[in-house]
Formats: sequence, C-alpha cells, structure tokens
Amino acid sequence: MNTYLFVLGNHRALSIAELFMRYPEGEFQVLGQDWALMDLPGKLGQKDLDALGGSIKIGKVIPAEEGERSNEVLANALAKRYTGTKLEYGVSVYGMPEQQLKTILIGLKKVLRAADLKSRFINNNFQNITAAQYKSIAGKGIELLVAKQGGQQWVAETVAMQDIDAYSKRDYGKPFRDMKMGMLPPKLAQILINLTGVQGTIWDPFCGSGVVVMEGLLMGHPMVGSDIHAERVEGAKKNVEWIRATFGLKEEAKLMVHDATQPASHAYDGIASESDLGMPHSQQIRPDMLQKIISDLDQLYIRFFTSLKTVGRKVPVVIALPFFRSSSGPSLDMGKTIQSIERLGFKRTPMLPEILKGEDRFCLKYSRPDQAVGRAIYRFMLI
Ligand SMILES: C[S@@+](CC[C@H](N)C(=O)[O-])C[C@H]1O[C@@H](n2cnc3c(N)ncnc32)[C@H](O)[C@@H]1O
Repeated sequence: MNTYLFVLGNHRALSIAELFMRYPEGEFQVLGQDWALMDLPGKLGQKDLDALGGSIKIGKVIPAEEGERSNEVLANALAKRYTGTKLEYGVSVYGMPEQQLKTILIGLKKVLRAADLKSRFINNNFQNITAAQYKSIAGKGIELLVAKQGGQQWVAETVAMQDIDAYSKRDYGKPFRDMKMGMLPPKLAQILINLTGVQGTIWDPFCGSGVVVMEGLLMGHPMVGSDIHAERVEGAKKNVEWIRATFGLKEEAKLMVHDATQPASHAYDGIASESDLGMPHSQQIRPDMLQKIISDLDQLYIRFFTSLKTVGRKVPVVIALPFFRSSSGPSLDMGKTIQSIERLGFKRTPMLPEILKGEDRFCLKYSRPDQAVGRAIYRFMLI
C-alpha cells in the first residue's frame, strides 16, 4: 500500500469526487483545503495524473522513521538523491502559509551544506513550485511537498505534475471551435468521465465540438459522440481526427447525428455529457427570460431521460446541467427537472466520500465568479 498526496484544483469538492470515483480501491486518510492524502494499492505516475482533470500534482508520501521530524525527512530525501553534482530541488507547502517556505528552505540549505552536499533550491521567491519551474528540473532535480494538518505533517516527493501545455494545446489548438455554444474545458470533461467510474465505452449524447469524446479517447476509452446538429458533428469529427493525429491515438470514435430525445441503438457502458446550457456562459440573464429558458431545457432533459428509460440500460449517467445567476435575485437551478428525472426511475448516486462533511454529495458545482451560467453535475442510475 502506498500513500499519495494529491494537490487539488480550484474546485475542491469536484477534485475529491473525481479521486473517490476513479480510485474506488483507495482510502482517503486526510482531506486538506487544497490537498488530499489517499492510500492506494498501486503505483501512480505521470500517466495517472494526465487522466485526472481535478488534480495538479501527485506526490508519493515518504514514510517517516520513528521520531523523525519533517525537516529531517526532507534533508534525508535530498541526501539520498545526491549523486555528487549540484542537486536542484524545490519545496512546496500545503496546509500552512507559504511564508514558512523561507525557514524550511534556508534550514535545509544549512543542513545540506554542513553535510558537504552541493545543492540549489529553485523556489528562491519562497513560493510554491509552479508547473513551469518543475519542468525546468524534471529528470534531474526533485520537488518535495510538505502538508500539515493539526499537529501532523507529511512529506512527499512529487511523482507527477499537471501538463499545462498539453491542456492548452487541446483547448486552443483544435480546428473546430464554436464560441456561441460555449465549450467544455478539457479538465472538466476528464472529471465527468472519471465520475462515471466506468472503464468501457462512454457516450456523449450532446457532444457539440467533441471535447468529452477527445478526452475520453486520450484516457483510453472507446467513445461515442452524437449531436442533433450535423455541422457540430462534422466539427467534432475534425477535432477527433486532429487529436488522434496530434497524440498518436489508435482508438477511433463513433460520431453521428442523433436527437438525444430519441432512443439510441448503440452500446455504451456509461454516459458523460454537458447538455444544452441554454445560452453562452458570460451573458447576463434578465429574470423574465430565465423562466422560459429553464422550462425549455426542462422539456429537453425530461425527453432525454425518458428515451434512456425506454432503452433501459442500467449504466451511470453523469451530466452537467446549468444553474443560472440572474442579474437580480438568487441563482436558479434545475431542481424541478431533477425531481422529474427521479420520478422517471433514475436515482441520484453520491460522488463524495462520507468523510467529507458539509458538501452536497449528490450535486457538484463548477463555475467561475464572472459566469452567469454555471454547471451543476449529477450522477444518475436507472433503478
Ligand atoms: C453546451 S453544448 C455541448 C458542448 C460540448 N460539451 C463541447 O464541448 O463542445 C450542447 C449541445 O447539445 C446539442 N443539443 C441540443 N439539443 C439536442 C438534442 N435534442 N439532441 C442532441 N443534441 C442536442 C447542441 O447542438 C449542442 O451542441
């Protein structure tokens, strides 16, 4: 059993949910504000982080010897890595103020100098190591992580760092983009896929430009995507060809025009989708328009779930539905629609571990403060 430290992205609950659903064999030990410790039977590396949209770094916890303090664990870990040439390293801290890095790094420097080990720490601004800094020492240097909660501290060595260049290439490099529709960030697409908990074929019935399909292919899933608009399906095909060529993928995706409110005949093991959100994210909504948008979407979703019921597959359905911030008044969600979907026979299933207190385990929100339309993510099963 290994213990891993995951540094979480901006949406804490979503990041924890993704880990919970992707690693059912794992056990959370500690949940910090922006990090989590999990025991796992397997070994994790870059490939594993590349398939997680909600985590930024993975570190493997270095077990402390009896009575060993965390600054000793840090110094010993660095000494072990020393090969006679100048060792470049960085330290990042979680669960404590970054100012403490100064004391930690200067203290470490003294210990290493006293032991006659030539070294240089790269975060000389005394801030946590960024992905770009890590890249500059990858393969030759080492990043150590210190996490603190209550009176306890853990030290871990970074084994994987989020590949920000690959994400922006996927987000901005693809040939077909449609700003009117609002496109799903690749990281959120990965999270939706991981929340299914499914290893096999995933279907996105509202595929638009095909972001879920592209990310699913990269994660090794057989993928099916469909959309009611032929020009979007054509665009998704271009995007899928582009990602297959750019990342050398063998797996092909099935893409087709299909109205999601009609029963589908193809096979799938799970659904991951961002369905119609009604409007672009940034647009402010007049309260009188909002009710009309919600009732149109309500009809679309009910007809979609009715068609799923007709087909009768008992597979997880992970779907992002909109919630709206109006220009005046409280935000509105699709609560009534959810109730109707439940009355059809779909049960909402929890996506968070019970040890996480104070969060809705059945609905996870994703939005930026400037967005008028956010996404509320649910996981349903036909019972
Ligand atoms: C918010 S967009 C999805 C965007 C997609 N996630 C992406 O990253 O490009 C919603 C999509 O649902 C499609 N749509 C709307 N009604 C539909 C229906 N009845 N059946 C299938 N697709 C539908 C729209 O054409 C649109 O492409």
